[in-house]
Amino acid sequence: AGARPLVGRQVVITAGGTREPLDPVRFLGNKSSGKQGVALAESALAAGAEVTFIHGHMDVPAPAGVKAQSIETALELRSATLAAAATADVVIMAAAVADFRPATISTGKIKKRDDVADPVIKLVRNPDILVEIVAHRAAQNRAQLIVGFAAETGDSESDALSYAQAKLQRKGCDLLVVNEVGPGESGTEKVFGQDGNRVEILALDGAGTVQAAGSKREVADAVVRVIAGRLGSP
Ligand code: C5P
Repeated sequence: AGARPLVGRQVVITAGGTREPLDPVRFLGNKSSGKQGVALAESALAAGAEVTFIHGHMDVPAPAGVKAQSIETALELRSATLAAAATADVVIMAAAVADFRPATISTGKIKKRDDVADPVIKLVRNPDILVEIVAHRAAQNRAQLIVGFAAETGDSESDALSYAQAKLQRKGCDLLVVNEVGPGESGTEKVFGQDGNRVEILALDGAGTVQAAGSKREVADAVVRVIAGRLGSP
């Protein structure tokens, strides 16, 4: 334990953004840079953990020293994560998962044609992977710490926090790391692609909220400290 409190622990971290294909050359994506997930992996490695890093698209490379697995879609992320979670002590879901995917993937490139109406894209819901991981743990009756992330907007900070509390209850994960992204579009700039971050770590069991701010690595170190405190000695 001590400086390396996660020695002997298997940690699964998801990171980056999923991409949902429309046709062979196009997709629906999101702005996730993967930086917070990479920082979490670095913190977990520094704490001595064995890290499986399952990632979608990122602006940065996966860190050295992890078992990296790359995925494109939410459905691929789901099967990779459920498989890896089966033996993990900790699962951290930092990936930005598309809530919806195109109902059909065109086998050929979608064309623009003057003689046909503009296309309408029908979306269907993706499964909530975090909720499924919580359900699997319950079914297996095993000890596992499950951590979710949430970017919340609200007219005030207390607004954002009460949305986050509701999300924590709904998802049923042990910890929810909340980024307040602030109202409006410019607010998202505070988080996506930036090097700094400010979060609150909420606990399902009502143990006190922990605040952390600073670089994404400093935030990651705070999250890993909370996790290590909960796991205790192996
Ligand atoms: O509901 P929301 O997308 O805000 O929740 C965010 C958390 O849930 C993140 O931890 C994210 O990785 C996870 N999530 C998931 N599957 C989805 C959507 C989000 O696991 N389909």
